[in-house]
Amino acid sequence: MQSYSFSDAEYDELRRLIENQVGIALSGGKRDLVYSRVSRRLRSRNLSSFAQYLSLLRSGDEEELSELVNAMTTNVTQFFRESHHFDYLNQKFFPEMVASKGSDKTIRIWSAGCSSGEEPYSIAIVLAEFLENHPGWKGEIWATDVDGAILRQAEDGIYAMDRLKSVSRERLRRFFLRGSGPNEGKARVGRTLRDLVSFQRVNLIESWPVRTAFDAIFCRNVIIYFDRGHKSQVVDGFADHLQPHGYLFLGHSESLHGLSERYQLIGQTIYRRR
Ligand SMILES: C[S@@+](CC[C@H](N)C(=O)[O-])C[C@H]1O[C@@H](n2cnc3c(N)ncnc32)[C@H](O)[C@@H]1O
Repeated sequence: MQSYSFSDAEYDELRRLIENQVGIALSGGKRDLVYSRVSRRLRSRNLSSFAQYLSLLRSGDEEELSELVNAMTTNVTQFFRESHHFDYLNQKFFPEMVASKGSDKTIRIWSAGCSSGEEPYSIAIVLAEFLENHPGWKGEIWATDVDGAILRQAEDGIYAMDRLKSVSRERLRRFFLRGSGPNEGKARVGRTLRDLVSFQRVNLIESWPVRTAFDAIFCRNVIIYFDRGHKSQVVDGFADHLQPHGYLFLGHSESLHGLSERYQLIGQTIYRRR
């Protein structure tokens, strides 16, 4: 495989570009990762050096800029990841919605940084089960990510069976369709879940096309990659788009400690707008 020279100045320029585009902070320790992911872009564009690649980006090639962003995001996810959050929805959140929402019987949830869809579809499963038992109630899940390629996978909603290990047989039977032909051995998200989720490309460090106030926002394992300034900007922005006392669910190693005064910690990585 071809190798390329990669100077400190080139690394710094790429690092700054990625941070400005998506807020992802790359320390010196990420140099090998950047080299390996960006080398693939050089190969696919038939370029022979990082210098050529950077001048392509400097020329304002928007498509390549999106490809660079897609290459630099980390998309690891799984169904019912951090399962205590889904227990919380069932045990505390839904009963509280019923008790407090009055005549507005629509539950609105944002999955921000939804990756390939496992998170919003997991939320959709527990929401669908709630709606079945609560006639007159509706649900809307807005699932967004900056990575256009992963978002297309999320919309397709087709998963190999080993990615569905944490979904019970009963839920698989009720909410998924068995794949056939080229999708043999895979399962496809069924209509009930699809109808609950809408996908959109949104960069969390730019302005958000939001016209509603959410009852809960899931932003898990996303801000961990951001620099401090963008972390604060994003979580403070969420508070502006949450219902009073709305919920923010973060990833297992994320915390708002020292980042925002607008939330109260009420459970394991579960926050409430003050
Ligand atoms: C590790 S995945 C987390 C997926 C899911 N929330 C979970 O916890 O399983 C992080 C996701 O954040 C997305 N992301 C990174 N920077 C972003 C940004 N500036 N705006 C929106 N999404 C971003 C990535 O594309 C990636 O899909």
